[in-house]
Amino acid sequence: MATNLKRNLNLQFLTSISKKGVQVCSISSTTSTTISSNHARIPDPSFVNTLNAPFDFDASCAVVYNEYITSTEEDLVANDIKNKMKRRRYEKGHWDAVINLYKEVEIADDSFQEEGDEKNNYSEGIPKLFNRIRQQLAEHHLTDYYDDQESIHWLPCHAIDLKKDGELNAHVDSVRFSGDLVAGLSLLSPSIMRLIPCDDNDDDDNKNSENSTKDEEPYYVDMFLPPRSLYVLTGVGRYKYSHQLLPDGSIFHKTDTDIVVRRDHRLSVIFRDSKQPSS
Ligand code: OGA
Ligand code: MN
Repeated sequence: MATNLKRNLNLQFLTSISKKGVQVCSISSTTSTTISSNHARIPDPSFVNTLNAPFDFDASCAVVYNEYITSTEEDLVANDIKNKMKRRRYEKGHWDAVINLYKEVEIADDSFQEEGDEKNNYSEGIPKLFNRIRQQLAEHHLTDYYDDQESIHWLPCHAIDLKKDGELNAHVDSVRFSGDLVAGLSLLSPSIMRLIPCDDNDDDDNKNSENSTKDEEPYYVDMFLPPRSLYVLTGVGRYKYSHQLLPDGSIFHKTDTDIVVRRDHRLSVIFRDSKQPSS
């Protein structure tokens, strides 16, 4: 698994790319300036590279909304999360851990009560923002899975703080607890999420794709996740592909431009529905 990740970091390849057509992307929260009132309401297919996907890959199963939140909202969420995590230490996983050099905190569902924001220690507007995201996910990504929105049950969100040299290796989210959708709001740093087809994991919790990923695995899908973007995995993207974050310096092929993605300290907020009793 770790070797899969390391394979993608090929510095020689990076330096051998001619400057023309190569863009270096490293965005820190201090350089973001726009406060947009026009939040992205439709996914942008140019943020998902399916050139190496199987021909029948369903592109609606892995989407990215660019600029989903404003930089003001990003600052508020990031500060709230950092505040919640400030007494925690970075966790160092075992050598084969899925995630390494990270902190994690659950965002209790109290945070979604829009009244009494001061009680739950989230900045004003954050519960509204999280509710808006759940609403969008329910309306646009879960209609195939539920008869009506009232039957959707959400797991508590959780936030992950991943250090620059932290790792999030290939895995499929728990099929015992987590439902048909996994979505993530990315904050502070750009990154690339890579999806790789994996074996069925019906009985296996938190399985990684180590065994199913051959050295020359021909199929993958890359998702470019700039700060303030929202990605959504459903269907095969959620169940039949593992996901992982590529290391700093990996390249995203966006339309006809190669972007060298400088991954730095990153925060994310993960949204999941809970597994339905009958599924
Ligand atoms: C996870 C996960 C990705 C992210 O927590 O299972 O895949 O964007 N997180 O932090
Ligand atoms: Mn995951």
